[in-house]
Amino acid sequence: MDIETLLKLDKELIWHPYTQMKDFEERDLLYVDRAENVFLFDHRGKAYFDTISSWWCITHGHNHPVIMERIREQLQRLDQVQFAGTTHQGPIELASRLRGYLPDALEKFFFSDNGSTAVEVAIKMSFQYWKHVGQPKRELFVSLEHGYHGDTLGTMGLGGVPAFEGPFDALTFDSLRVPAPYCYRCPAGKELYEPGRGRRCSLECFGIMEEEVERRADEICAVVVEPLLMGAGGMLVYPTEYLSRLSRLCQKHGIHLILDEVATGFGRTGKMFAMDHAGICPDFVCLSKGITGGTLPLAVTVTTKGVFDAFYADYSLGKTFFHGHTFTANPICSAAALGSLDVFESEGVLEKLPERISFLQGEKERFLDIDIVGDVRGIGMVAAFELVKDKASRASFDSKVRAGWQVYLRGLEKGLVLRPLADVIYLFLPLCTTREQMATILDKTEETLKEVSGTLTP
Ligand SMILES: Cc1ncc(COP(=O)(O)O)c(C=O)c1O
Repeated sequence: MDIETLLKLDKELIWHPYTQMKDFEERDLLYVDRAENVFLFDHRGKAYFDTISSWWCITHGHNHPVIMERIREQLQRLDQVQFAGTTHQGPIELASRLRGYLPDALEKFFFSDNGSTAVEVAIKMSFQYWKHVGQPKRELFVSLEHGYHGDTLGTMGLGGVPAFEGPFDALTFDSLRVPAPYCYRCPAGKELYEPGRGRRCSLECFGIMEEEVERRADEICAVVVEPLLMGAGGMLVYPTEYLSRLSRLCQKHGIHLILDEVATGFGRTGKMFAMDHAGICPDFVCLSKGITGGTLPLAVTVTTKGVFDAFYADYSLGKTFFHGHTFTANPICSAAALGSLDVFESEGVLEKLPERISFLQGEKERFLDIDIVGDVRGIGMVAAFELVKDKASRASFDSKVRAGWQVYLRGLEKGLVLRPLADVIYLFLPLCTTREQMATILDKTEETLKEVSGTLTP
């Protein structure tokens, strides 16, 4: 089919995710023909920097030869088999290699195939665990406002982004949502945080979490958070101390801590996992996206022997964890994940990161000079710019202005895919992005923001 036919059929037949299709009445979607390293190429051969790592999963660049070779080899042997009552090489090797990167106590691996499901599994396991150990009243989950854990009904029960979950309120369970450590819009007084200068507070926001948890400690199953970086809620970066204190608080009350590392895992924050910055061990960690280097869908929920043992009993006792998916631990996806670990190890990926990260984090600060950039924040290979109508009051643009969308459209012209989160523009870069590539991406993003700023401010 020629390109015009394909694009016409797309509009006739396809409903895209997180997309108001009416936005494409007068324009075409970006047609991606192929990809290589940090670039996407359209049908005309125009290159675009994949600045958001294709929804936060591409790790070592597109089509990395080591991962591609692993996939090719696997295709010769075994394509798919159900994971109940059968097993195969990939997930076994993967679990044993991942153990080396995880805290010692995380030793039981439950595979699935996407990030939402990895979290859904953790919340179901935690919920059922408390029934098995004779504490059935623990049924409450604690999560953060602005948090995001997926789009299934279960994970939406934890979510704190009203635009996503609002329409489904009546269908989802109620979690206790605590105000987030959102420094720029601090729940304890914004004067304590200055963009570009950091915070001068004593983490008063953690006091809110502590109070809420202590008030209802006996009812709580688990606290669920994205460690250090809250992605979909606006790339909010919060202090490591918040996470370490949260871990201690959960331990004090015997409450599970579930860390959703779906987006932060596999190097994105500068360490293999975001929890490594705090040196903590949760009861569950949820991994997906970057697990295969971003090439194929795979997820895993990793937990402790203590949790596993609560389910380990004679069948007749009814303690089995009845949950599973057709493509659980798919052999080809598992091979891709092994390939990604090969790349981490053979190319010294984590060792190369500090120099790249300090460049990105240093350079992002200059964006504060742009009229519409209210806050800059970042961690690891992630940098974010919150657009505001007025810097002094930190007032947001009216949603009708669609400031983020304007930036996205202008960015495409310059060869950038700056898909925004409402009015937060961000870079979520593949770990392989070189300093020179970052310099170009930063220059083009700055240019884009300045040009759009000129059209939005009087
Ligand atoms: C922190 C976090 N958890 C869960 C998910 C859901 O993952 P998936 O889209 O694979 O279901 C995402 C996706 O962006 C995420 O960022």
